[in-house]
Amino acid sequence: MKLVLIGAPAAGKGTQAARLVKHYGIAHISTGDMLREEVAKGTELGKQAQSVMAAGGLVSDELIIAIVKERIQQDDCKNGFILDGFPRTVVQAEKLEEMVKLDKVVYINAPDEVMLERLTARQTCPKCGATYNKLFLPSKVEGVCDVCGTALTQRKDDTEEAGRKRIQTFHEQSEPLVGFYGEKGILIEVDGMMPIDEITKAIINGLDA
Ligand code: AP5
Repeated sequence: MKLVLIGAPAAGKGTQAARLVKHYGIAHISTGDMLREEVAKGTELGKQAQSVMAAGGLVSDELIIAIVKERIQQDDCKNGFILDGFPRTVVQAEKLEEMVKLDKVVYINAPDEVMLERLTARQTCPKCGATYNKLFLPSKVEGVCDVCGTALTQRKDDTEEAGRKRIQTFHEQSEPLVGFYGEKGILIEVDGMMPIDEITKAIINGLDA
């Protein structure tokens, strides 16, 4: 199964992708996570991406397409994969079409103000990658990961200012993908305002239909 998850910042792509990869036994490819790893390692790519990400913009199509092309050829993608955060522009989507035939594209839709509220309250574990939310999905002990006990951190781009810019970037550059995939008849739209478990069920029902 080859899937794409589309949605504005904090729509719930990463949360749902983590559940779907377990359910279907396929690989999770998060371009945001891959870029953050490069930033943490201080590579040339990370240096190029860092300021763009912090400001809420998009890294260049050329750069991200090359990363994804290489990643989907790896062994763990043989049974399929979920692309979380790619494509984000129509140019990226057209290039992806040349690389693979997608089965479905899931669009998680939620209002801007809700996404802003979610992202400014998000906490992530720098060690195991688990995601929490001070308002909607708190860890059992405040500021500590339930899974591995590491101190939780906040992403640099999860401020109100960068968050608003990321949402604007989504509307300008990524929302056209909804029409792009809708016309191809492979789009499933789900209401991102539902509880997390309900969204997972709705996506699986849509995919298995
Ligand atoms: P990326 O890491 O992909 O960030 P994003 O798209 O802004 O998405 P988020 O990770 O913020 O949110 P999410 O939808 O995964 O939500 P989550 O599940 O965590 O990209 C970062 C940056 O990298 C980009 O800005 C760009 O610069 C660059 N980049 C990446 N890909 C690129 C590309 N293809 N081209 C160019 N540049 C690229 O949930 C958010 C919070 O809400 C969590 O706290 C969660 O617990 C909570 N939550 C989730 N669902 C619910 C729910 N149903 N109810 C209540 N709370 C919920």
